[in-house]
Amino acid sequence: MKKVITIRDKQFELFIEQEIIEERIKQVAGQINSDLKGKDPVFLAVLNGAFMFAGELMKEVTIPGEITFVRLASYHGTSTTNRVQEVLGLNKSIENRCVVIVEDIVDSGNTMIALKKELEKHNPREVKIATLLFKPAALRQKLQIDYVALEIPNDFIVGYGLDYDGHGRNLKDIYKAK
Ligand code: IMP
Ligand code: MG
Repeated sequence: MKKVITIRDKQFELFIEQEIIEERIKQVAGQINSDLKGKDPVFLAVLNGAFMFAGELMKEVTIPGEITFVRLASYHGTSTTNRVQEVLGLNKSIENRCVVIVEDIVDSGNTMIALKKELEKHNPREVKIATLLFKPAALRQKLQIDYVALEIPNDFIVGYGLDYDGHGRNLKDIYKAK
């Protein structure tokens, strides 16, 4: 794979290779398989960013469960906004269910706090969070994250579902802004 790529006006350098990413996803799936056995969880993948993580994760989840997809506010440019729109596409009842949010990245944590609050209105039994990436240094909320594939520093990254201005989601490796 290329070591340095350009997306629009920005240069990115190779940061985490597919092999490592998928190894870590397998480990997360393993934890889920043992923790949530018998709970028939509903995986709630957050579009667009989590599509690739969700696909890979679900291939490794071997316990019975369901997957559905929701959409939230979009992310513009390289800084997080506090504005979170409503949850779209939740057409599956989560009442009394074990819900696992499948997210691409937890940055400030604002999105996850808002989503959890929204989901609580539908009376789930419990809500867990599985994220591909977590930037601990950027966290501004008190948030329990149950499953983290990769902890990263506070850099802006693209690839494996994450975008810069809509581009780069298809990259199979993760790149960081130079
Ligand atoms: P939070 O609400 O600040 O935790 O931001 C979470 C959302 O911001 C994620 O779901 C991503 O869509 C987006 N985001 C945060 N950091 C990055 C990044 O480094 N690259 C691409 N998107 C990001
Ligand atoms: Mg997202």
